[in-house]
Formats: sequence, C-alpha cells, structure tokens
Amino acid sequence: MAQFSWTDDLHTGIGSIDDDHRKLIGLTNAFFETMESGQGNERMSKAMNDLIAYTEEHFAREEAEMERIRYVASLAHKSEHTKLLIQLVELKGMLDANGRINTPAVSDFLSEWLREHILAADMKLAAALKQERSAQATAQLS
Ligand SMILES: [Fe+2]
Repeated sequence: MAQFSWTDDLHTGIGSIDDDHRKLIGLTNAFFETMESGQGNERMSKAMNDLIAYTEEHFAREEAEMERIRYVASLAHKSEHTKLLIQLVELKGMLDANGRINTPAVSDFLSEWLREHILAADMKLAAALKQERSAQATAQLS
C-alpha cells in the first residue's frame, strides 16, 4: 500500500499550515501502516483516533484563521472539513464494531482527499492569508 509522501506542490507557504499538513500526512501514514501490516481493528482504530484528534485540531486552527480574516469562502471550506470528519468517524465506528474495511479503497480515499483539499481549498486560503499579511505590512508602513 502506497504511503502518502509530501511533495513540494503541497507547500502553501504558510508555515503553521504546512507544519500541520506534514504532521497529518505522518498520522495518515501511521494509519496506513496498521492496515498494511494487518495489526487488527484495535490498532487501526487507535491510529484512526490519533488521526481524527489531530485533524480536528488542525481544522479548528484553519477555521480560526478564516474567522480572523473574514474569509469569503469559509463556508465551503468548512463544509469540506465537516464532511471528512464525518467520514473518519464513520470509519472508526466500523473498526470499533470489528467490521471489515476495504483497505485499498480507504487508503486511496484519504490520500486523494488530503492532496485535493490542500491543492484547492487550502491553497486559496493560504493566498488570502498572504494577502492579508501584506495588507497589514503596508498599513504599518503608512
Ligand atoms: Fe482545510
């Protein structure tokens, strides 16, 4: 099963967001490892729990930044976050109930979701944050 690797195109240029994304990719890969090595639902569920907890923290940080700059696309962006969390919680529920999961499909889904979300929604947010920073810097100079 392929690990999700960080590639330069995922770099948003906002340090705190990039750090969070690297950590999220690490936790996603830790979850993939539990699937790959057939460590059983309990281990997978624990790794999924760590992933959900960090995803919630990361989304909350991004959403606080959206509020701070009154980001115009915040509703659409937040709804992507909410949908993913619902799916992760459903997956964890299946693992806790000892259900069978289609591990290649789960792995593809998570890798694709992260990559697409970062490249589309997060890049737009990062651009808005950079614009706000330069507006602040200009205001301080005048
Ligand atoms: Fe996001």
